[in-house]
Order: sequence, then structure tokens, then C-alpha cells
Amino acid sequence: MNASDPILEVEGLSVRFGALLAVNDVSFKAQRGHITSVIGPNGAGKSTLFNLVSGAFRPSAGRVRFNGEDVTGQAPNALVRRGLSRSFQITNLFPELSVYENLRLAAQALEPAGLLPLPLQRSTLAVQRADELIERFQLASKAGEMAGTLSHGEQRRLEIAVALASRPQMLLLDEPTQGMSHSDTAQVAQMIRELAQDNLSVLLVEHDVALVMDLSDHVVVLNQGARLAEGTPADVRANPAVQAAYFGTGKAAHA
Ligand SMILES: Nc1ncnc2c1ncn2[C@@H]1O[C@H](COP(=O)(O)OP(=O)(O)O)[C@@H](O)[C@H]1O
Ligand SMILES: [Mg+2]
Repeated sequence: MNASDPILEVEGLSVRFGALLAVNDVSFKAQRGHITSVIGPNGAGKSTLFNLVSGAFRPSAGRVRFNGEDVTGQAPNALVRRGLSRSFQITNLFPELSVYENLRLAAQALEPAGLLPLPLQRSTLAVQRADELIERFQLASKAGEMAGTLSHGEQRRLEIAVALASRPQMLLLDEPTQGMSHSDTAQVAQMIRELAQDNLSVLLVEHDVALVMDLSDHVVVLNQGARLAEGTPADVRANPAVQAAYFGTGKAAHA
């Protein structure tokens, strides 16, 4: 495995919901330490693709390779153990547990598999990791509060921290700034940038075009389940098919 080999390879991925081909023969590669984004209007199939890559859904056709290994159809927990972690568009926090407990539970993935589940006092690695994340994400003043009582922006920040608790090599994010204020969005964008600088690979699923164009190394455009275009942000922006299908509406940034 070379540093220049893609960390993630998606090949001919499809899934059908009844008559609807929600993801239709989608292929792309994500490079190590890069921010790769999937954009497209609402209903394009972004979250479905995300669920196929993160193991929540099983594809009807196609392959997902992570670090060169075929992981198609593996459950989310198995993928977390391989280094692929995700934060959902829909919240995946335990609202009635404290901020600290949410982090510590997620960090249990670091403990040797044979010992799970560990009593609190023996989960040394998980406790250490939770402490680190509390600090890094500036959640110290909220550590004892129930996750469900945090503000929307704080919850989204905690979700990213939870997804990072297992020290993944790649982080999958589905619309991490959804419903956030402009300044919270800018903060999350900066956080994603810093994570990538630390050599984390990021797959970002997002409909906020401005955010994607600003952050991404590589952009994949989905439209009606299929890949419409892919390339650098500049390539994608200049692509006539993308302009017609997406930017052409003049509403893309708010879709
Ligand atoms: N579990 C499901 N069952 C049936 N249809 C679904 C399901 N999830 C999504 N869809 C449909 O698949 C299409 C793609 O949805 P989605 O992946 O959520 O799009 P996006 O995230 O790009 O907005 C939409 O038409 C949506 O209604
Ligand atoms: Mg979605």
C-alpha cells in the first residue's frame, strides 16, 4: 500500500429503492489526506451514497474498497475498526448521555476488541481519547451536560468529535453544517481543513456549493443518482453539464 494509492475506491455502486435507482453506477476515488466532496441538489442520492460507503446500506451492485481491501456491505462497526468513521446528516448522539459519555462510548472502539464492553475504570484508552477531544473541541465547560441540551452548533461539533473518537483514517461527513449560522459554518470549515492538514482523509457530502468549492481537493457531482462530473473545484465549476444541471438553476447554493 503506497501513500499515493487512493484510500477509498467506489466502483459502479448502485442501489434501488423499489422502482427508483437512487444511486446509479457511481464510481470515484478519494486520495489520502485529501478532502473529496460529493455535491448535488436535494434528492440527488448523496446521503444514499454516503450510507452505501459507510456500510449502513448494502449496494445492489458495485464495490467499495478501503485501503485496497474490498469492504462492500460490511457493517458500520466493522468499518470503524478498519479506520472509516462517519457523522450522519441525522444526529447520532445519545441526547440523554453527557457530552463526555458520548465521547467515551465512541472511543471504546480503541479498546482491544476481545475486552468489550469494558467497565468505565478499565477503559483507559477511551478515557484518554475522550479527554483529548473535550480539549480539542473546546467542550470542557459542557462535558457534564446532556448532549441533547447543547445548541445546534455545539451538537454538530460534538458529532464530529464523536466520529473522530476512534482515530479514523477517513472521516465521512454528511452535511456537517446543515442548519448552522454563517459563523458556525465557517468554524466547521476551518476544523475540516485542519483535520485534512493532519493527514486525515475526508469525504464530505454537501449541497452548499460555496463551502465545497472552498474546501475540496476533488469534487464529484451527482445528479439523479448518477455521476454527472468530477474534477477539481475549478473543473467542475466550468463544466457545462454541471452548469446546466446544477449551477444553472441559480438556486444551487440554497437547494
Ligand atoms: N430509504 C429510502 N427508501 C426509499 N427511497 C429513498 C430512501 N432514502 C432515500 N430515498 C430516495 O432516494 C433519492 C435520493 O435521496 P438522498 O440520497 O437522501 O438524496 P440527497 O442526500 O442527495 O438529498 C430521493 O429520491 C429519496 O426520496
Ligand atoms: Mg442528504
